[in-house]
Amino acid sequence: MVNVKNLVVYYSRSGNTETVAKEISKAVNGDIKKIELKKDIGFIGAAFSSLLGLKGKIKSMDFDLKHYDNIFIGTPVWAGKTSTPINTFISRANLAGKNVYIFITQADEKTPNLVYESIATRVRAKGGKIIDSFFVQTDMKNPITFEQARELVTEWIKTI
Ligand SMILES: Cc1cc2nc3c(=O)[nH]c(=O)nc-3n(C[C@H](O)[C@H](O)[C@H](O)COP(=O)(O)O)c2cc1C
Repeated sequence: MVNVKNLVVYYSRSGNTETVAKEISKAVNGDIKKIELKKDIGFIGAAFSSLLGLKGKIKSMDFDLKHYDNIFIGTPVWAGKTSTPINTFISRANLAGKNVYIFITQADEKTPNLVYESIATRVRAKGGKIIDSFFVQTDMKNPITFEQARELVTEWIKTI
């Protein structure tokens, strides 16, 4: 990861993906950008819109991917799917020639293969190359701590 430019892009509703994103950005010395919804859509709205594969209405993105080599894309799982703000990000992103890493947080302990595959298919269609993916199981009642995230991220980063 020397002399390459890293960007961590993520959406987070309740902070877990954000904590993991911050630890990744520190570990790879990368920039970090949060995708934000224009307005909160609530739990039910989030669950249904993601189930339907919709694109969330997000605030404008104040960054340009052309400055980066490696893009780390982070999302929580919503109703077994990608969060809707990240659907929007991927649909707008020019990922041609980018190395892409996917990171996911979810409550379930099972590897979220369907979400990885769904994101990977879209990233490849945009010209990106999937390098690796990583997921963190979270507890909906107790947000992940920076210490917990750091330990998991450190282990993962060693492998890439
Ligand atoms: C609307 C909604 C739907 C969710 N659906 C799932 C699910 O299908 N599977 C799962 O394992 N976790 C699910 N979760 C839990 C989140 O994926 C988990 O809490 C995640 O770490 C939240 O990330 P965040 O704190 O960055 O928003 C859901 C959470 C929300 C808010």
